[in-house]
Amino acid sequence: MPPALALFAACQPGLEPFLAEELRALGATPQAQRGGVAFSGDTKLLLRAGLWLGTASHLLIRLTRFPCRALGELERKARDLPWSSWLRPHVPMEVHATTRNSRIYHTGAAAERITNGIAAHMGRSLRAPAKDDEVFATVHVRLRDDECTISFDATCDPLHRRGYRLDGRKAPLREDLAHALVLASGWRPGQALLDPFCGSGTIPIEAAALAQGLPPGRLRAPALQHLAVFEPEEWEAVRQERRPATPSQFLAGDRDSGAMVASRANAERAGVADAITWHEGAISTQPWLQGSGAPAEGVVVTNPPFGLRVQKADGLLPLYQTLGRRIEGLGAGWRAAILAHDVRLCRRTGLPLKAAFTSKHGGITVTALVGSAVAVTERSPSQSNAGDDEVDD
Ligand SMILES: C[S@@+](CC[C@H](N)C(=O)[O-])C[C@H]1O[C@@H](n2cnc3c(N)ncnc32)[C@H](O)[C@@H]1O
Repeated sequence: MPPALALFAACQPGLEPFLAEELRALGATPQAQRGGVAFSGDTKLLLRAGLWLGTASHLLIRLTRFPCRALGELERKARDLPWSSWLRPHVPMEVHATTRNSRIYHTGAAAERITNGIAAHMGRSLRAPAKDDEVFATVHVRLRDDECTISFDATCDPLHRRGYRLDGRKAPLREDLAHALVLASGWRPGQALLDPFCGSGTIPIEAAALAQGLPPGRLRAPALQHLAVFEPEEWEAVRQERRPATPSQFLAGDRDSGAMVASRANAERAGVADAITWHEGAISTQPWLQGSGAPAEGVVVTNPPFGLRVQKADGLLPLYQTLGRRIEGLGAGWRAAILAHDVRLCRRTGLPLKAAFTSKHGGITVTALVGSAVAVTERSPSQSNAGDDEVDD
């Protein structure tokens, strides 16, 4: 049996526990670290990880780690690695270097030396990917405290780019964050899920795929396809593996008609359009939030406007108060998971929400607040009288 590969699944900050759980479900023994989860396994596990992980952004195969303080040493080490058993002829290749607190501080020079070492080993010059090349190999060189780690990226595109969201509308949520929010919410297949601010539909689409047992990477090319270790028969066997489907109700709404068109088209591409009911309108007209037809149990999983652009957070106060009151009206069988930028604003829902994770989205800090739909304290008169004000993001 070939020795197990040293693998690392990278993720957005704060998602490590969810990613570790996903890897455990694939049979790996995960070790959560800052920025991702280390694990080991064979190419079959790597193919499964590329297909099934919903909260990872990259999969890395670690080739080597060694102390290094000079560029010449970097090139020599690179020359001695078994590149020909990894690189496929004709597949272009690029090297990315990062360095921190190390004697080698010039990332361009580090990348160049590694490229030279690989070319010397292969006995030919290497072609860098052209703009429209979809299949290419990326070698990551990471220098930290004079220690160098060299890894391959096991996929060509980041894993959060699922391939269904061609129209992202105004402020689309990254698919991996939406996936983590659904996992953090406590929603389980079989339960109802409502997203009244669905935008491009990312949250209900990720959840509906989980309910149907569909892998997040189903629309993407397989991991490893750009490397020599890719075996089409092994991939075919992994692709045939199934998870059970559990019928679940999904209601998604937005007051923006363009968003509704986009989210339907995204859901269609994702293969889950039939599982989701759509409602175009403000939350004040959302049927379940009006007490019409809502199941006894479920979870509101949503990403309301953050209030970063047009209005300051204060302008969104009535919207968050209305949301809290409406969610509470769903009854004790419901829970809520709200992704917020301004935690204090989110607290004004009056719901007993606790931080489940904090992450980054488009350069801003976001916190997932999760809890029961029943308010802890009685609402103040100003909260209970809050109208269904319509505000925009
Ligand atoms: C931050 S975006 C949601 C992004 C979404 N999660 C995605 O992945 O595309 C917030 C959405 O709330 C919608 N919105 C704003 N005010 C609303 C209201 N009063 N009722 C319903 N939708 C509203 C906006 O049209 C926008 O699409």
